[in-house]
Amino acid sequence: MTGDMMIGVAESGGTEQSAIRRVAVIGAGVMGSEIAQACAAGGVDVVLLDADAAALDRGLAHVASIGARRVARGRMGEDEAQAISARVTPATDDAALGDCDLAVEAVPEVMDIKRQVFRRLDAALPPDALLATNTSGLSVSGMAAETRRPGQVVGLHFFNPASVMRLVEVIRGEATSDATMAAAEAFVTSLGKVSVQVRECPGFLVNRVLVRALAAAYVRAAELGADMAAADAATVAAGPAPMGPFALGDLIGLDTLGHIQRDLREAYGDRFDDGGEIAQRVDAGRLGAKSGAGFHDGRAPEAEPDDAGREVAARYYERALDEARRCIDEGVVAAPGDVDLAMRYGCGWSEGLLAWDRAREAGGG
Ligand code: CAA
Repeated sequence: MTGDMMIGVAESGGTEQSAIRRVAVIGAGVMGSEIAQACAAGGVDVVLLDADAAALDRGLAHVASIGARRVARGRMGEDEAQAISARVTPATDDAALGDCDLAVEAVPEVMDIKRQVFRRLDAALPPDALLATNTSGLSVSGMAAETRRPGQVVGLHFFNPASVMRLVEVIRGEATSDATMAAAEAFVTSLGKVSVQVRECPGFLVNRVLVRALAAAYVRAAELGADMAAADAATVAAGPAPMGPFALGDLIGLDTLGHIQRDLREAYGDRFDDGGEIAQRVDAGRLGAKSGAGFHDGRAPEAEPDDAGREVAARYYERALDEARRCIDEGVVAAPGDVDLAMRYGCGWSEGLLAWDRAREAGGG
């Protein structure tokens, strides 16, 4: 589904019927447990599978902590939080996959590991079950080729934090059938989330747009010696993004971001160069929020925009727009409106990128 059609579905949230009632989430790391929470909150039974029992304990505790936080904020009743946690069953053995309708893998972004997981899933899941990868850019078709059911393999790319962000990119691999795409979209919608269909390419849609903008902002800031907090503030002040490039890098995790940036540079060339700004921090053990420090020490400090920061912000949005237009020209999305949906629901933008640009042009800004 595309553009405005999707908005109607998106705003109604969680009403569409899906045949998928029981989902396996493979990997109980932060992303896996966030996805498990999102599925359980959408009313689906979840098997959270990880060979590491301690990781499973941490994953279940993470699901419970999201509920506890929402209860404490008065956004969810105690009963509902408990019901969500109760829908997530931990498992260490593939035998638990035998009655699942869908498996979503969220194991590390290493192709060999993903291939191995897909072979295991193919062996353990019922013949009509769907297999999905939450990869942020690796080849869905390559994973599908490990199975005897490539038509039933699809990318389901959730965004960080997946318990909050509503977008799921639904990625069609070379062999993915129309029926699988339709079932995957219906499933996403049944969770109250928003799906955007994306053609397979390195970085898909959102990571291409976002990482291009982030890398460019880091280079520009280094050239200008810009204050990072002021650049973050200027980015929020200048456009629809809810947080600036440095705070967002710290949220995503600089190790994760570094992997994506390198992969995209390899795929598309120097327009994805960040001047080594990410690797420098990763080498120093500064991985972002997960390690307590990244670009910023701890939480991003409050600051006012300044001139250098405004230049960084201008570069950020300019590069995001350029990459979005390339994605549209290459047919990565079916309609330009999908870019706006994706940025709003995947990255929390208050307005779509293209809509914002049109309004800015119209206003002479
Ligand atoms: N980690 C996890 N959850 C967080 C968080 C963090 N750092 N910061 C806030 N949250 C949660 C809050 O706990 C709250 O959750 P509940 O709804 O469960 O209570 C929710 O987010 C909203 O929080 P707040 O009201 O306190 O804060 P906010 O309104 O400022 O929103 C935000 C925070 C949701 C993170 C918002 O700033 C935002 O949307 N930022 C952009 C995030 C983004 O771009 N994500 C995509 C990254 S790219 C990616 O994920 C793809 C990939 O492959 C790497």
